[in-house]
Amino acid sequence: MSTRTHTCGDLRVADAGQEVVLNGWAYRRRDHGTIVFIDLRDRYGVTQVVITPDTPEAHEAAQRVRSEFVLTVRGAVRRRPAGMENAGLPTGEVEVVASELVVENPAKPLPFEIRDDLETNEFARLRYRYLDLRRPRLQRNIVLRHRAVKLMRDYLDAHHFLEIETPILTKSTPEGARDYLVPSRVHPGKFYALPQSPQQFKQLLMVAGFDRYFQIARCFRDEDLRADRQPEFTQLDVEMSFVGQEDVIGLISGLCRDLVAELTGAEPPSLPFPRLTYAEAMARYGSDKPDIRFGLELQELGDLLANTGVGFLKAALEAGNAVKAVAAPGLAGLSGTKLREQVKAYEEVVRIYGAKGLAWLDYPAEGGPKSPIAKFFSAAELAAIGERCQAGPGDVVFMVADTAKVVTAALGELRLRLGRDLNLIAPGQFRFLWVVDFPLVDWNEDEGRWDAMHHPFTSPKAEDLARMASDPASVRANAYDIVLNGIELGGGSIRIHQREVQERMFQLLGHSPEAAAAKFGHMLDAFEFGTPPHGGIALGIDRFIMLLAGEQSIREVIPFPKNQQALEPMTGTPDVVDKAQLELLQLVSTAKQDAA
Ligand code: AMO
Repeated sequence: MSTRTHTCGDLRVADAGQEVVLNGWAYRRRDHGTIVFIDLRDRYGVTQVVITPDTPEAHEAAQRVRSEFVLTVRGAVRRRPAGMENAGLPTGEVEVVASELVVENPAKPLPFEIRDDLETNEFARLRYRYLDLRRPRLQRNIVLRHRAVKLMRDYLDAHHFLEIETPILTKSTPEGARDYLVPSRVHPGKFYALPQSPQQFKQLLMVAGFDRYFQIARCFRDEDLRADRQPEFTQLDVEMSFVGQEDVIGLISGLCRDLVAELTGAEPPSLPFPRLTYAEAMARYGSDKPDIRFGLELQELGDLLANTGVGFLKAALEAGNAVKAVAAPGLAGLSGTKLREQVKAYEEVVRIYGAKGLAWLDYPAEGGPKSPIAKFFSAAELAAIGERCQAGPGDVVFMVADTAKVVTAALGELRLRLGRDLNLIAPGQFRFLWVVDFPLVDWNEDEGRWDAMHHPFTSPKAEDLARMASDPASVRANAYDIVLNGIELGGGSIRIHQREVQERMFQLLGHSPEAAAAKFGHMLDAFEFGTPPHGGIALGIDRFIMLLAGEQSIREVIPFPKNQQALEPMTGTPDVVDKAQLELLQLVSTAKQDAA
């Protein structure tokens, strides 16, 4: 039979009367005794094929067709009989009356149906990912991914960026996660590391004069997995010379706006995107990646309770701890038992973040308060707390008293939970936010040292530089994150470009001059040969596509992802290797050595 003339998504009423050849998979087959209907599917759509006994050979073949058989069909397009149209399909007004039907390849019964509305366990989905990927939803996600990446390339090309590759076999880049290591055969005992990001190379490309670089870069991090984390993931990696923070923010904001405008049906977000400093984000939302699709901001209560008689709050404030609150609209309307159950569930949330308890006050629309601690507060305190938290009749205020760190983390998390539980997040929104002025370093309790908050190449703010040795915690960095709907989409910074500042940074992070030279000598060297001021950012492409597609996990937008245990069940990765391979890499002793 001749090759296909149309895809399964092409045909419309205007094509009626044409003879066509289609290829595809048998999606659904309905045998109405004499007439057989087959919905033929390819990546472009679904077309209904009708096979009647008038074409006995085709009819006989159609009887044998089962789900996911690969078919070639020749036939005439006709308008479907009145009342038989399918408004849900772009091709739903027509059908193809088959004159020939060839089974190109049969298919065994499938481990699961190719349908979007079916809950299939993830292991099975990944074990047969090539079937899972046939589902319309995943096909849409992969197409969306292609279009998004193409848009990124075109946008950056139009802004004079060059796409440049950097090595995959490289030296470890300290970005906070563990490295994946690759043993060297040629240099026994030595290892390559897979890049956690192209950070150092993109900076060295600026030293090389490439000015505006980008890369769709695969990155590898051996870290614990979550819905938005994979061991290998893809970044849109960007670096620019002779720029400041505003240039990077402006460029990336425009790209984000275009992606939403071009690839979703949603209202494109207006520019400029809102901005918060890290300190504001933590104070108001208890998070450095606030979801600003809803309110429920955290409120400081310390000043209102300065003279309180409530024992545990008085003690907390005297000990220099913080007291903050978040209001939950409507919860006070729950029955006593229901409310207690709900409070218990929320108590669990804050305990995970180190809070010892969760105090609550209700502001009932009618009747007295159900909160057992309400009676310890003065009327003036109750009114002031209610006003500060904008708690009206029917609302509940939750309070945590603890160290500022615990209060922030616990209430930040409770806020997110309330936003979900109380349906405060209208779907279909794309709320971008820049978080700026991150601290330069973060105290690592376990190791008793300072860690770079972003990475060691991030520059301190010039006005804070003098405090780098005396008060590192107060030093702010020229670092920024872009957040979308409460998810960290990307992060970047203006870099250090002077050797002396870079050395001070390494010193602050506890690297001796010798250790710094051994690990980062190439960067320090480069800074002595005319390094331009530069900065950049990397966006998590998987996360971006996940959000554009309205998915909950990046695994839904990656063709062949690993599961939560970092396994890839289809090929069975990771796997053992032959002893001979290990011998060659000198990772085990050879038989000869064993004998000796
Ligand atoms: P950072 O480490 O913040 O910055 O990473 C940038 C973005 O990459 C995404 N991301 C991930 N996505 C999926 N799985 C993971 N395991 C994972 N880890 C990170 C996030 C994140 O915001 N070199 C710097 C960038 C720079 O300074 O220019 C860097 O890699 O969306």
